[in-house]
Amino acid sequence: MRSNSKVAVVILAAGQGTRMKSALPKVLHRIGGRSLIEHVLATAYELDPAHVVAVVRHERERVAAAITEFAPQTLLADQDEIPGTGRAVEQALAAIPADFDGSVVVLSGDVPLIDSVTLGQLLTDHSDNARDMTILSAIFADPTGLGRILRGADGAVTGIVEEKDATDEQRRVTEINGGIYVFKRSAVTEALAQIDTNNAQGEKYLTDAAAVILAGGGIVGATLTTDPWVIAGVNDRAQLADAGRELNARVCRRLQREGVAIVDPATTYIDVTATLAPDSTVLPGSFVLGNSTVAAGAIVGPATTIANTAVGEGATVLRSEVNGAVIAAGATVGPFAYLRPGSELGENSKVGAFVELKNTQLGAGSKVPHLSYVGDAQVGSGSNLGAGTIVANYDGVKKHRTVIGDEVRVGSKSVLVAPVEIGAGAYTAAGAVVRKDVPAGALALSVAPQRNTPNWVQQNRPGTTSADAASAANGEKN
Ligand code: UD1
Ligand code: CA
Repeated sequence: MRSNSKVAVVILAAGQGTRMKSALPKVLHRIGGRSLIEHVLATAYELDPAHVVAVVRHERERVAAAITEFAPQTLLADQDEIPGTGRAVEQALAAIPADFDGSVVVLSGDVPLIDSVTLGQLLTDHSDNARDMTILSAIFADPTGLGRILRGADGAVTGIVEEKDATDEQRRVTEINGGIYVFKRSAVTEALAQIDTNNAQGEKYLTDAAAVILAGGGIVGATLTTDPWVIAGVNDRAQLADAGRELNARVCRRLQREGVAIVDPATTYIDVTATLAPDSTVLPGSFVLGNSTVAAGAIVGPATTIANTAVGEGATVLRSEVNGAVIAAGATVGPFAYLRPGSELGENSKVGAFVELKNTQLGAGSKVPHLSYVGDAQVGSGSNLGAGTIVANYDGVKKHRTVIGDEVRVGSKSVLVAPVEIGAGAYTAAGAVVRKDVPAGALALSVAPQRNTPNWVQQNRPGTTSADAASAANGEKN
């Protein structure tokens, strides 16, 4: 695929983010399965640009490592000690090859809901009007803290003023600067060379480029978006939560339009990285996280978390916690199951109530219906692990594997002490402690034969309700 040789993207991510009150850099906080900077990078790359440059400074190593891991082709520009969005863009431009003379899109690392459709409209508006600078703006009932778009009597943009530098009259303007722009490269480069830090914050403002370009005879305009969320910045934990909730609502709405049944989006959380097929269902109180996939006819929830898990056609996962599992078509999980990484459930298999599986392959049609732990095991098809079966995979030092064949019947409350192998069709008796391999077709019985001591209760617990009941029962028989 040819990249869009006419577009470069600059992402501003050098700021401190002090209002998060966090040891984690702001742009590395997560919503919807990605960090803020990853959301912005993903949107940037949807434009298929010729270059993407991220500007870093605060917590430089951590932020740079996160960017490079997510999108290795991203160029990094280090901001020096001169503060401000204008300086940040200036240093990003220095990292873009000199022969690039297309449009430069400027995004903020802390504005995660920007989308490529909006940016496409911004780019179109910019080129249709042959502008040098196009600002993405919005009308905010409460514009507090944001830069205001200034317009002349004819309605044409005349500049941007930061709130701290604004007059009372300018503060009453409700059209705000979204902090997202398209520039003609040469125009922004020339403008930034003329901008100083002589303002209320002592910063080199990118916003000053509007007036400077206009003064030089350039063309500046604004594209007004009706969707304020696309420019919503995250500055504190409350805004992070708000953006996360809105992102989730958008993901759920998109999936619903694609045919996914989401009964209650308000209590359903689906990461942007998850894939759900039409006619899959997510019931209330559920989380579909990471690169999970849910096939048609599958039902997840209620009150279920699946992370990095594949749920096959028609499978159900009810009130369970599942991480790193593969659940084949028609399998049923829960209620109250805990599937850990490496759990692979065959077709039409069953993992029931209060069952934990780890690194275990369960064959087609096999069942672990109640109260079990099964770790590091391979189970064939058509086998049943009775209630309370424990696979003791850990000898205190090492973990060992257990192999169970096809059509095995493990008796209730058996303990299978790994490493051990149970052959096809074998049975273990209830309560068996299986320390040695069981050949195919054998019955493993390890508990002592039962011995009844007649009237033990009446003799040793006289006067108790049990003794009275026993006497009455025996009396009836005698
Ligand atoms: C900026 C705009 C304001 C607009 C608002 C929208 C300026 C001067 N003001 O204000 O008009 O309404 O965004 O959200 O541009 N950054 C750097 N290096 C710096 C300073 C900032 O990379 O030296 C980055 C920050 O990490 C952030 C982005 O630039 O990602 C915006 O900076 P911020 O300080 O949040 O600007 P605002 O005060 O919000
Ligand atoms: Ca901001």
